[in-house]
Amino acid sequence: MDKKVTIVGAGMTGSTTAHWLADKEIADLVLVDVVDGMPQGKALDMQEAMPIIGKDVTITGTNDYGPTAGSDIIVITAGLPRKPGMSRDDLLAANTAIVSKVAEETIKLSPDAIYIVLTNPLDVMTYLTWKKTGIPANRVIGQAGVLDSARMRAFVAMELGVSVENINCYVLGGHGDSMVPLTRHSNVAGVPLNKTMSKERLDAIVDRTRKGGGEIVSLLKQGSAFYAPAAGVAQMAEAILKDKQLIVPAAVYMQGEYGLKDIYFGAAAQLGANGVEKIIEYELNDDELAELQKSAQGVAKNIAALGL
Ligand code: APR
Repeated sequence: MDKKVTIVGAGMTGSTTAHWLADKEIADLVLVDVVDGMPQGKALDMQEAMPIIGKDVTITGTNDYGPTAGSDIIVITAGLPRKPGMSRDDLLAANTAIVSKVAEETIKLSPDAIYIVLTNPLDVMTYLTWKKTGIPANRVIGQAGVLDSARMRAFVAMELGVSVENINCYVLGGHGDSMVPLTRHSNVAGVPLNKTMSKERLDAIVDRTRKGGGEIVSLLKQGSAFYAPAAGVAQMAEAILKDKQLIVPAAVYMQGEYGLKDIYFGAAAQLGANGVEKIIEYELNDDELAELQKSAQGVAKNIAALGL
């Protein structure tokens, strides 16, 4: 294929991202990991599935960066996942070292790539990738909002028994427990969410959305969610490769939106061939704005801790 997507970190989210992307048949794929033989084994296994699903995608596994040269998109999922009782922020020190190295190595061989970051703590690791690659901020995006919004959509669908396709939810802010599900802007086939269920039920869905990642971590007991995060990356990569101009919530570089500057933070972003083509700013009331600003303070604190 004429497009190439590299996924660094061939663990649960990395290999699942490759799986979703292979099914879309939009790019050849390169899986990179530090574990000897693992990315090669997963890539070969997936390659052998292609005749069954009828997709002409080449999937390469490697422990070095050579085969990543000339990638259109680099996905970073390398790093440690959470264990029960850990917050995403607890991963900061370990994942800073890993993501820094990945960003520096990959940009040398793919200077025109667009980056999609998945490693947690997400907003901070996306900022770090932007700094370490030195490329314009529109070409570095974090995957979080697609996932958080999809969780909220799934919970609304379960509650109402309506197709997920009819449900539009928008979760902004940092990818942590202070994320901001925008209930006023969310709707079911155009009907505002608060007209479809009681305040108690809606509050419960907002709370479950905020704690959605933790719910999976405590069920799995080792590792964190991977199907839905990986599906989020695949949707973003497709939007970029096909220049769809798709609007999704994502971690993007703020330049004054909602009064925020110099942080990566969840906002509605229009994705196309240039990465972030535009940030869409909603009209928020004072309460919503205050929640966003509180969430931003947590992200800013962690970014400052990077000492860049
Ligand atoms: N270069 C390449 N790969 C690396 C490096 C590195 N420097 N360091 C670690 N890895 C690899 C590991 O070997 C492992 O295979 O990253 C992979 C991570 O996979 P998992 O442990 O299965 O974790 P996963 O669930 O995929 O989560 C990865 O994404 O969603 C976030 O919070 C999650 O930060 C975590 C990341």
